Amino acid sequence: MARALDLAWRGWGRVHPNPLVGAVVLAGGELIGEGYHAEFGGPHAEPQALRMAGDRARGATVVVTLEPCAHTGRQPPCAAALLAAGVGRVVIALPDPNPVAAGGAALLRTAGVAVDIGLMRSAAAAQNAAFLHHHRDAGRPFVALKLATSIDGRIADHSGRSKWISGPEAREWVQWLRAGFDAIAVGGRTAAADDPSLTVRGALVPRVAPRRVIFDRTLALPPDGALARTAADVPVTVVAAPEAAGGSRAAALRAVGATVAAAGSLREALAQLRADGVASLLVEGGGRLAGALLADGLVDRLYWVQSPLLLGERGVPAFSGIPAPALDDAARWRVVERRPLGADTLLVVDHPACSPES
Ligand SMILES: NC(=O)c1ccc[n+]([C@@H]2O[C@H](COP(=O)([O-])OP(=O)(O)OC[C@H]3O[C@@H](n4cnc5c(N)ncnc54)[C@H](OP(=O)(O)O)[C@@H]3O)[C@@H](O)[C@H]2O)c1
Repeated sequence: MARALDLAWRGWGRVHPNPLVGAVVLAGGELIGEGYHAEFGGPHAEPQALRMAGDRARGATVVVTLEPCAHTGRQPPCAAALLAAGVGRVVIALPDPNPVAAGGAALLRTAGVAVDIGLMRSAAAAQNAAFLHHHRDAGRPFVALKLATSIDGRIADHSGRSKWISGPEAREWVQWLRAGFDAIAVGGRTAAADDPSLTVRGALVPRVAPRRVIFDRTLALPPDGALARTAADVPVTVVAAPEAAGGSRAAALRAVGATVAAAGSLREALAQLRADGVASLLVEGGGRLAGALLADGLVDRLYWVQSPLLLGERGVPAFSGIPAPALDDAARWRVVERRPLGADTLLVVDHPACSPES
């Protein structure tokens, strides 16, 4: 299953809103086939793995990260392909939450195939967190926060400089991460301080370039900054307070091709983004926006890059304005991943509500 999960990652940036899926075929303790869902609308993992296994798939065990589909979409049903190949056993990490595609496990069992569900379920759920979120709550996008901080939790120095807290490996990883999201967001003060382009510039080219979103209540975003200048190439949405969205600043941004959305709250803004097709949103700071999203309970995942330096009390805090619960009342987030990125350390944690069982 670990190998199947590794294979599934190869679809990152290319298959969403479909799930990432990987599969391997085992016979006599030997790996005889492997496959993954590589492109949205393209072949699924199981038929790819079966093709590689050929006739040896008869009686073999197929290990797959998501329940094989039972419906005909852009591709024929995988459960039928497994039956046609005559496999003896199917091991599944995660049941399919999509009511349209689910039912593959039952179909296989009815036909006499041994089916086990739940192996490495947590890892599989973490890998497809945005997909699972969509089936749990289609009212707002899956929201992930990504921040690079010092050891003392600062995202910029006392003068507002944040380039660069993290090292080259972490910055390269961020390019890869961006490719798997529908939209990348920052707060208005970050847009003003850093003039970021928020585009994907790594080795992985996303199937659809993520939209750029700026939460900017007063519409301070300069119409000649990097984001506004490139709005005609990659869409830009600026979320403003209703009273600012009809003014001259809004008109100047619309004139350069940006969309200006009016929202009275972050929750309302997220609902609008979801209605506009944003199913997953990566928020890259700053601290006020991060804190406001956390305070409203609107964050599903945190990607925290911690760098080995100290920036002191006058540095910009990673999360401003979050409530201060008593220790016993503080929710413990679930650790999904931790690993080094060069000299930095990546910690990925999911909100407790984002559990593989829900
Ligand atoms: N190291 C990193 O990973 C990293 C990442 C990003 C930024 N940074 C640094 O962080 C600094 C900027 O961070 P910051 O904390 O000062 O500002 P920020 O979070 O970038 O900006 C806050 C923005 O969000 C807007 N906003 C919209 N709705 C909001 C709500 N409900 N609550 C609060 N804000 C809302 C604010 O509007 P209003 O103006 O109306 O309040 C403001 O424009 C810069 O120095 C930047 O370089 C570092």
